Amino acid sequence: MSFDIEKIRADFPILSRKVNGYPLVYFDNAATSQKPRQVVDTIVDYYYQYNANIHRGVHSLSQEATDAYESARKKLQKHFNAEKEHEIYFTAGTTHGINLVAQAFTELVKKGEEIIVSGMEHHSNIVPLQMLCERTGAILRVIPMNENGTLNMDAYKTLLSEKTKLVCVNHISNALGTINPIKEIIDQAHQFGAAVLIDGAQACSHLKPDLQALNVDFYVTSAHKMYGPTGIGMLYMKESWARKLPPYQGGGEMISEVTFEKTTYADLPHKFEAGTPNICGGIAFGATVDYINEIGIDTIINHETSLLNYATEKLLQIEGLKIYGTGTKKTSVISFNIENIHPYDIGTILDKFGIAVRTGHHCAQPIMDYYKIPGTVRASFAVYNTFEEIDVFVEALKKAKTMLS
Ligand code: ALA
Repeated sequence: MSFDIEKIRADFPILSRKVNGYPLVYFDNAATSQKPRQVVDTIVDYYYQYNANIHRGVHSLSQEATDAYESARKKLQKHFNAEKEHEIYFTAGTTHGINLVAQAFTELVKKGEEIIVSGMEHHSNIVPLQMLCERTGAILRVIPMNENGTLNMDAYKTLLSEKTKLVCVNHISNALGTINPIKEIIDQAHQFGAAVLIDGAQACSHLKPDLQALNVDFYVTSAHKMYGPTGIGMLYMKESWARKLPPYQGGGEMISEVTFEKTTYADLPHKFEAGTPNICGGIAFGATVDYINEIGIDTIINHETSLLNYATEKLLQIEGLKIYGTGTKKTSVISFNIENIHPYDIGTILDKFGIAVRTGHHCAQPIMDYYKIPGTVRASFAVYNTFEEIDVFVEALKKAKTMLS
């Protein structure tokens, strides 16, 4: 498909609303993206036409819902190039996926063994692993960051050893936009027999990971940052791990046979999907990847890269503005501060002009500690954003600077 920005914008009715009397400029896509009609229509269609519980009923509605849900799983398998359908697990989101893996590793990690995270993780990829360490007596090691917001890969190599059991790193930093060298991280961890979990929450609307080529053990993401609904995500887990790890939650769906003496578990993927799932969310996640593929990931990457370059150049013309995250491999996220002005004050003024950005620590406090700042203003772009919106944003920012200086 050739790139027609007006056609794409027309898919997102919210983009034509006004906020505080100004046309909405939505630059908070790293927190959550807006949803196209195609995804919303899928949700409405499900509830109006074939809402039923899945994997349970012999009746037609249940069969239709089951088929749609399982077909969404196949779409994810194909989109992310997983080898097997039952390596794709629906979760409530990235946080759920990481907690599932961290919990399941409790039985595999021993006192004194090590878990590696990086200095640029979201709290979701720190806290569940800290809790794993507390349960097991394992030690948390941290890959340090460089000043430009990239990972210190030499330090990573020195952290790896036979003691390393699990390495958990994000694909793209939500706070800085840095794209991490995950293939290198995975390959080096594997040399020491460690498993690798990649947090892809920020990645999957900006690129398309090839899970087989990456040879990753676990890859987690959320639909809501990729034009899908909240409350639904994906955990990719290599079959060998899925067979080895114990279930995370017990309940309906995940069993084969239950007696008071002993329960046997269902086969994959159901072993890790206890209870009635977010059926509609799963189906809508399928519509989400259809939407991305309809536009084409290369088209998305080209447009977002142009937006990133254009905005970076314009922002750097504002005196006193400092960007955090200046590595060469980054996606359409710009985190910045202007002199000593508090990010929250800038965000509040931008909102008066109808511009939505995120301010604060972005659930990544260790990054803010590293830079010794309370937080940043973060503008993050999606496929529907325009160069004109960036102009509006830059002008509003200049006004905010004048008002707050
Ligand atoms: N993790 C989300 C963000 O970066 C909420 O804003």
